[in-house]
Formats: sequence, structure tokens, C-alpha cells
Amino acid sequence: MDFVGSHILSVSQFDREAIEKVFSVADQMTPYANRQRVTRVLEGAILGSMFFEPSTRTRVSFGSAFNLLGGEVRETTEVKASSISKGESFYDTARVLSGYSDVIVMRHEIEGSVSEFASASRVPVLNGGDGSNEHPSQALLDLYTIRKELAGQGKQIDNLRISLIGDLRYGRAVHSLCKLLKLYNNVHFTLISPPELALPGEYVEALRAAGHEVVESSDLQLNITNADILYLTRTQEERFPSQQEADKYKGLYRLNQSIYTEFCEPNTVIMHPLPRDSRGNANELDNDLNENPNLAIFRQTDNGVLVRMALFALILDITDQIDKHSRAVNWYTAKRF
Ligand code: CP
Repeated sequence: MDFVGSHILSVSQFDREAIEKVFSVADQMTPYANRQRVTRVLEGAILGSMFFEPSTRTRVSFGSAFNLLGGEVRETTEVKASSISKGESFYDTARVLSGYSDVIVMRHEIEGSVSEFASASRVPVLNGGDGSNEHPSQALLDLYTIRKELAGQGKQIDNLRISLIGDLRYGRAVHSLCKLLKLYNNVHFTLISPPELALPGEYVEALRAAGHEVVESSDLQLNITNADILYLTRTQEERFPSQQEADKYKGLYRLNQSIYTEFCEPNTVIMHPLPRDSRGNANELDNDLNENPNLAIFRQTDNGVLVRMALFALILDITDQIDKHSRAVNWYTAKRF
């Protein structure tokens, strides 16, 4: 894969070699994300950050990643703050904004919208999530996290046992993660969801065709006993035809410390793309797990900065220049990693 100048729209663009390249550069970003060193390699560069759907970690971590490389960020949030609300097309918006930016990250509720935007953009575009289709940078940071967590246990991604839990129909992070895991060997997938929110058939068929074992079930406790990774998801209420319909599925699958202790292997890692829905009728991942050392959700969010820095570094072709433009920090830095 040639990263330089490329759009990142789908994880289907990646093979294992390209994934390893991203992870290797992400490892090199640690001193910068950890505030041990500062680099100004992207001084003068501008990231156009366009989030037409709500976001905390994708929007802010893409922005922080660009800032940590020395660049500046110009943000548009919400359709109503953009001239898209006046009927402007993606084509015109892309032509305009790509004149103001060196690279753009975009999120929008319509599947395929980011690709449509990218086709008119004069600069590289990264998909920050398009409807229930894909969330490539989330899947890359999830896989990076899985690899790190497993390495701590002397394991690799090949032969992984992963349980994906919750709204697998609308969860774009799950869709992209399945496409990446498909590239590895002998992964055992347990898909736990109500039948109405099952992983779409094309994903299941692709995993089986690639030689992976896939078990589908609607029972949580029976299916989390032999897993390296539990990957929980929120009910994606914004994708449902009505709030009433979404509410039917909230709270069906809840993991807390007592269920974990009773049913899981001691080293099972708990992941979630976040946000977790902590409201009483949902609460898929209980706060009583917060002190569980196997809860990796905030290691995922920290890893997101490293992976997004790596994507910018590869796309903008600056991997060899980062250290040359760096120095030690000169302010108090809290320990983060
Ligand atoms: N995981 C994720 O996409 O979170 P945000 O919606 O907060 O960006």
C-alpha cells in the first residue's frame, strides 16, 4: 500500500504489511504522545476536521495527533454550522475545504458520504466514520490495542478468540474490525447479539470463507467463558428508525465485575470503542469494572492518538523527519502511558 497522498476510506485498503507499517510508526510516536518530546515537523500544515455527527474521541484525538506533530486544526462541527445546511453539495464543500487544508478528516451519518467527498477533494481525506458502514481509524487502534494486550500475555493475533457483543448490525467499529481480523489466521469469532442486531450476513460469510470459525448466539454468559477479548458495543440508537425501537435492545447485554469473575478467564481483556452508554437503561459496561486491570478501554483511547499520528505521518510522508524536528519538552508532564 502506498500511503503518501492517499485517502483512508476503508480498512479494505490494508493488508497485513500495511497494518504493520502503521503499528511500527505508531510505536515511534510514543515519546510525543507521552509528552517526553515535542516535534514541529508539521508546522504550517492545516487539518480540516469536519464532524457532522457527534464525536468526542475521534474528533479530539485526530486534532491532538495533528497538533502533536506541529500542525494546526480548523474544525467544523454539526451540519447546521456548515453551508451543507443551505444545500451545498459534498462536491462543492470538498472543492472549497481542500483549498484550505493539507488533509481532511470527516464524519457523516450517510454511508459512502466520505468517499463521495474524497472523490472531489484535492487533498487526502480520512474517514472518521460514515453511518453504519466503516470506522477505519477506530479498527486500526482497536487492532493495535489487541496486539499490545495479547503481547503482554505471550499471544499473537493469529489464533485469537474474540467475542463481539451487542449491536453488531449498526456498529461501524465492529464492521471495520472484522474486516481487519479477517486478514489473520484461525480467529475464533463469537458473535453475541439479538437476532435483529446480528452482524450483517456478508461479514459473517466473508469471515467463514477466510477460514475463521464463527459462532452466533444471543446468550452472553454462556459465550464469554473462552475468550481472549470481549469487545462490547453500545446500541447505536441514532441509526434506529425510532428511539422506542432502540430502547428495546438497551440493557440486554451488561457486563459487570461479578459476571466477569464468574464466567470469564482471569486474563480476558475487556474492550469497547466507546462511548459506553452509562445510563441506567443501558449500562453495557458497568463502572464497577473501572479498577479491573483487564479493562482496556482507556488504553484504546490513548492508543488512538498514536495510530492517528502514524496515519498522518505516513500520508504526509514525514516519518523520516519527525525526530529531526524534535526537542525535549520544557514543562511539567503528567505520566500518561
Ligand atoms: N469511538 C468513537 O468513535 O468515539 P466518538 O464517537 O466519541 O468519536
